[in-house]
Amino acid sequence: MSVLIKNGRIVTATDDYHADIYVNDDTIDLIGKNLQLEADVVVDAAGKLVIPGGIDPHTHLELPFGGTTTSDTFETGTRAAAFGGTTCIIDFAVQMKGQSSLEALETWHAKAAGETAIDYAFHMILTDMPETRTKEMRALADEGVTSYKMFMAYPGAMMSDDGTIFRAMRQAGEDGTLICMHAENGVVIDELIKIALSEGHIEPKYHALTRPTRLEAEGVHRALAIAEVAKSPVYIVHLSSYDSLQELRMAQARGVMAHAETCPQYLLLDVDKYDEPGFEGAKYVLTPPLREKWNQEELWRGLRGNALNAISTDHCPFCMKEQKELGKSDFSKIPNGGPGIENRMSLIYHYGVNGGYLDINRFVELTSTSPAKIFGLFPKKGTIAVGSDADIVIFDPEREEIISYYNGHTHHMNIDYNAYEGMPVKGFTETVFSRGRMIIDKGQYLGQKGDGNFVKRGAYGGMYTPGRSGDIPSRAPGSRNGG
Ligand code: URP
Ligand code: ZN
Ligand code: ZN
Repeated sequence: MSVLIKNGRIVTATDDYHADIYVNDDTIDLIGKNLQLEADVVVDAAGKLVIPGGIDPHTHLELPFGGTTTSDTFETGTRAAAFGGTTCIIDFAVQMKGQSSLEALETWHAKAAGETAIDYAFHMILTDMPETRTKEMRALADEGVTSYKMFMAYPGAMMSDDGTIFRAMRQAGEDGTLICMHAENGVVIDELIKIALSEGHIEPKYHALTRPTRLEAEGVHRALAIAEVAKSPVYIVHLSSYDSLQELRMAQARGVMAHAETCPQYLLLDVDKYDEPGFEGAKYVLTPPLREKWNQEELWRGLRGNALNAISTDHCPFCMKEQKELGKSDFSKIPNGGPGIENRMSLIYHYGVNGGYLDINRFVELTSTSPAKIFGLFPKKGTIAVGSDADIVIFDPEREEIISYYNGHTHHMNIDYNAYEGMPVKGFTETVFSRGRMIIDKGQYLGQKGDGNFVKRGAYGGMYTPGRSGDIPSRAPGSRNGG
């Protein structure tokens, strides 16, 4: 199967030029001016941007959480991602306490295999990691799972103590893999929740009031300090506030290999959402919570200046009906999480690029190239180059839409609301190729479930060896990254 994409404006993290792209089977074969080649499919991309498919490094599909399961399956969630111009996700598998993480990986493979519209990879959530099992992390890396998430929040459930975090970071530093950290002081947060409930505060907005930015910043500070001493890199997930950003900048200035992502919800939605009438505020019960609006400007600044390295969605959808409703009489029982997998590219293009915060190369870098590099997918994914996977999005920079679940139902996510309801965007995905196959065209889904493959990732930070994805280079002791 061959594809010729003609006359487009090709934008990568570093380039911006007009040329044609010739795709043969899964990969890009040739890029040049006025290519005179026959192809099975020819697309005219005049007036359009031709960008690498989005990579969303933080999603939760079919995740059991908070007494229920996220409402998007691997089938529905990846299809919605494709509609929005995302061609690869890194989802979170979960190891339960006492369980082997390799067994957990099998469970997640069974959920996703044969179901997805686009390629996918896994991080592994580690809920414990006794000394006797740290070698499992290396075994996971050999399976292409080269990053692990740990929680400083949710005591008694997902939370790891500092010793466990330190052990895991040391091992990751040795192996060339990466710890992703949910940084919030969950122990103090639980005390604040108890106080709020004892005073009769049951409404959704108390989710935000019991998770102050200072307790996120404390977690970020602690995670970065532990990583520094462990001499390992670390990636802070869903960073939401200026307080935390300042901690990140200070560690980066000391030379800590500290990376962080933020998400559209922290850039575009704010704490006032919790004042929506009745139980509507539950739509925005996600963790960390939405913050005061002034934080947004600071986060954009952090993205522009490279303190923040990626934009993920933390797509973790729960329907209002029967799911968020579980917390109608107790905010702490509202399943934490919100949707966004389909809207990220348009939101960041419109509010970031059109809004004057990001240039177009930085848009591509934050939504595709940088996650690919950090998480060992580059240059297979995350760019438009000869030999790279033909994960390509033709993006119409002029198309205007209003994001809505209620009016016209412009989303394909399996959830009964959209967190960005009513927000205008200019810039929309028109055509999507996943490894050379056209899976979306002008609002039509042309793919099939099972088109997507599991991708074995390489080592942290672009230590990827072409043709050897999944191999982890040995690293001599003392050669670890970090301070
Ligand atoms: O609210 C959120 N983010 N739920 C998903 C789990 C997590 O902490 O990422
Ligand atoms: Zn988290
Ligand atoms: Zn998450």
